[in-house]
Amino acid sequence: MLGIIGAMQEEVELLLEGLEDAAEHPGVTLPNLRIYSGLLDGLEVLITVGGIGKVNAAMTSTYLLMAGATQVVFTGVAGGIHPSLVVGDIVVSSDCVQHDVDVSALGYRLGEIPGEILSWPADEQLRALALEAAHEVQGVNVTGGRVVSGDVFVASPDKVAWLWQHFGAACAEMEGAAVAQVCARHGVPYVVIRSVSDTAGGDANVDYREFMPIVARHSAQVVRGMTRRMAAGLLAAGLAEPS
Ligand code: ADE
Repeated sequence: MLGIIGAMQEEVELLLEGLEDAAEHPGVTLPNLRIYSGLLDGLEVLITVGGIGKVNAAMTSTYLLMAGATQVVFTGVAGGIHPSLVVGDIVVSSDCVQHDVDVSALGYRLGEIPGEILSWPADEQLRALALEAAHEVQGVNVTGGRVVSGDVFVASPDKVAWLWQHFGAACAEMEGAAVAQVCARHGVPYVVIRSVSDTAGGDANVDYREFMPIVARHSAQVVRGMTRRMAAGLLAAGLAEPS
């Protein structure tokens, strides 16, 4: 079953609006966490709003897996780091790194947690599906690249330059790598889809407030393109009934 996470309500609104046979998943008892089950394009999905930051993302994705998700898509907005990105563009993760992890004093690479790999690769099939679906969104550019995560809202040109030089980041956000780490630990495939709400420079806070609610819909549209394709795939394979 496909599990879908956004950090904020705005990031999953479009998907919740389209959810048929929606119900609250009964097995989750964490205060302030609701996991909704239902059908998107005939495909069984779980959808949740996970909260902001890596700890919330790790907690929520763990609960999402416990509720039965066997593949995970994170959808939301990000600050563009790659110099070509503009507001509205879409990034599909190649991999995720935690940019605020620094154990370099003990000889580890920036971003590397002792005992873990440096970056968690996205699932190739989910990624290919997301890229295909992203190309259907009108008027935006689509990039595949590294998503870097940290408990930081990036709003400085120096930090943008640093994230680009050290990590080759396409975009920065606050959850993806935590979801990736949890999924990797459980052997569950994942992909992160982000639309650019700001370019993480000095005006990032202004751009973010203006554009986040609008561009959040772009990545949700990509998820919807994925569910359409997944549902069609199941139907073609005789693994689902026509509705
Ligand atoms: N999400 C959207 N914009 C962001 C930024 N500039 N930094 C971190 N997370 C973000």
